[in-house]
Amino acid sequence: MVSVECELLSNEEDAPGHYVMALAAPEIAAEAQPGQFVHLRTPRTFDPLLRRPFSIMLADKVHGHLRLLAQVVGRGTEILVNTPVGAKLEVLGPLGTGFPLPTGDGDVLMVAGGVGVAPLISLADALRGFEHPAYIRGLFGAADEDMLVCWIEFAGRCDEFYVTTEDGSAGERGLITEALAQQLDRGQAAVAYTCGPVAMMAAVAQMCGDADVPCYCSLEQRMGCGIGACLGCVIAAADGGYLRVCKDGPVFATDRLDWEAILSDQQ
Ligand SMILES: Cc1cc2nc3c(=O)[nH]c(=O)nc-3n(C[C@H](O)[C@H](O)[C@H](O)COP(=O)(O)OP(=O)(O)OC[C@H]3O[C@@H](n4cnc5c(N)ncnc54)[C@H](O)[C@@H]3O)c2cc1C
Ligand code: FES
Repeated sequence: MVSVECELLSNEEDAPGHYVMALAAPEIAAEAQPGQFVHLRTPRTFDPLLRRPFSIMLADKVHGHLRLLAQVVGRGTEILVNTPVGAKLEVLGPLGTGFPLPTGDGDVLMVAGGVGVAPLISLADALRGFEHPAYIRGLFGAADEDMLVCWIEFAGRCDEFYVTTEDGSAGERGLITEALAQQLDRGQAAVAYTCGPVAMMAAVAQMCGDADVPCYCSLEQRMGCGIGACLGCVIAAADGGYLRVCKDGPVFATDRLDWEAILSDQQ
């Protein structure tokens, strides 16, 4: 893990309010594992003071570039996406515990919701690099067509790809969990990975548990230090204890989590 000033190489709007940013960060790209994140701050300003966490969507180890997907939700992300190309960002990373890679045979299910597609693209990219790449069935759900951010990058790394939108503007009308039910019914899934809204991940966890398919999720949580020291990011564990999203996660086996407590914290 290093803290470095990185040049912003490009910054393009992929969907309304969603930007794909490329950074020159060779030290971080070299070490990054799928599911890890970086903690970003715009330098030479203390507004806002705290860093902001973002999943590494792609780590290009050859050219030393990182690609991130940022959705504008508040002041920090507004400042970030308005940073001009060529400016420097302070980047701490790679941080956290990423996805365990699948072992053995069987298909890999990936279930993405909205901006949660970012860490799954890095995972799919890593699995493509295997000598015997896993067979990936990708599922992507969003409210409408516009919110299918970076779907081309995701679909291009999957062997099969399914889309649902709540308004039916792309793919099947409905929720991605309906598509997941069909995929679980087919059998042959060795493992599932998911990232998206908490309610979606809780449902995916439940369905995969019922189908006896091991499942891993990438969680988002407000963060302070990002390195396990401040306990600002803890969530409830199934054994009654707590887990730090920044250090023990952001990726967790879904059966380690107390979903009822996590869902009620969101309200
Ligand atoms: C490990 C990790 C990976 C993430 N990856 C991505 C990513 O790839 N792309 C992306 O767009 N966002 C990602 N996020 C969420 C992103 O960090 C927040 O959206 C961002 O910090 C909000 O900052 P803000 O100042 O714009 O929002 P604020 O003004 O601070 O808050 C605006 C709203 O966003 C919520 N929020 C703030 N911080 C977080 C947070 N850390 N997690 C969830 N909700 C938050 C607040 O509760 C509030 O409702 C990730 C978060 C984590 C923890
Ligand atoms: S953000 Fe400080 S412990 Fe996780």
